Amino acid sequence: MKDYYQKNKLPEAVQPNCPIVQSLKGQKAIVTGASSGIGKEIAIAIGKAGADVIINYASSIKGAEEAVKEIEKCGGKAFPFKADVSNEEEVVAMFEEAKKQFGSLDILVNNAGLQKDAPFDEMTIEQWDRVINVNLRGQFLCSREAVKEFKNKGINPNISCAAGKIICVSSVHDVIPWAGHVNYAASKGGVSLLMKSVAQEVAPLRIRVNAIAPGAIRTPINHEAWATEEAYSDLMKLIPYKRIGEPEEIGRAAVWLASDDSDYITGTTLYVDGGMTLYPGFETGG
Ligand code: BGC
Repeated sequence: MKDYYQKNKLPEAVQPNCPIVQSLKGQKAIVTGASSGIGKEIAIAIGKAGADVIINYASSIKGAEEAVKEIEKCGGKAFPFKADVSNEEEVVAMFEEAKKQFGSLDILVNNAGLQKDAPFDEMTIEQWDRVINVNLRGQFLCSREAVKEFKNKGINPNISCAAGKIICVSSVHDVIPWAGHVNYAASKGGVSLLMKSVAQEVAPLRIRVNAIAPGAIRTPINHEAWATEEAYSDLMKLIPYKRIGEPEEIGRAAVWLASDDSDYITGTTLYVDGGMTLYPGFETGG
C-alpha cells in the first residue's frame, strides 16, 4: 500500500465554482429539504448547472437563503419556500408557487428526510409516524404533484428529451437492515418500490424516476458517526473506500441523473456509498 501511495500522488478534488457547461440550462426544479446537508448541496449543484430552483425548507430559512445566494452567484434564479412535505395542502401550494415563479417544472428532487431513532420495543407511534410521513408519504405527495405537472407540460426538446425527471433520495438502508432505526429503514425500503413502481407507470410518458442511495455522508444527521477520531475509525470498518462522503458528491450525482446524459436510465438506484453496500465484513471473513 505504501509503495502505491509513493508512486501515485492522489490529487485533491477540484470543483469549479460555476461549471462552464451547464447541463440543466433552462430547466426548472424543486428540491425538498434543501436548507441543510445533502439537500442544500443538491440544490446548489442543480442551480449551478443552470436550473432555476425552488429551495424547499421545513424550518431553517437561513440555510435556504444561503443556497439561494450560491445559485445567484452563478446567474441562476432560486426562491426559498417553506412547506412540510408530509402536508398535502402545503405540497400543493409549493407546486403552485413553482408554476407562478417559473411557468413550468422539469425536475423534482425528493430529498426531505429525517431520523427519529429508538430501540424497537421503545419506539413510540410519534417516532414511527413522523419518519414514515416525512420520508415516504412526503415523496408520494411531491412525486404525485410533479407527475401531474410533467404530464400537463409534455416534452420540450429544446429544454430536455424527457417530460420530467424525479430523483428520490433514498439511503443504503433501502437494502441494509438497520437495528435501532427500524422506522427509517422501513421508510427507505418503501421509497425503493415507490420509485420503481412510479417509474414503470410513467416511463411511456417519457418521465424518468430514479433514486440516489447515499452511504455515510458528512452531514448533521450522522454527526455522531464522524465527529470524533474514534467514531470515524469505527465508521471506516463499514466503508471499503476508506473515507466519508461529502454532500457535494451527491449533488454531482443528482445533476447527472437530472440531465439528458442519463436519458435512458429510469427505475434505478445509484448507490453513492464508497462501497458500503459491498458487505465489507466479507473482505476477510466468510
Ligand atoms: C443515514 C446516516 C448513516 C448512513 C449510513 C444514512 O441514510 O441517514 O445517518 O450514517 O445512512 O449508515
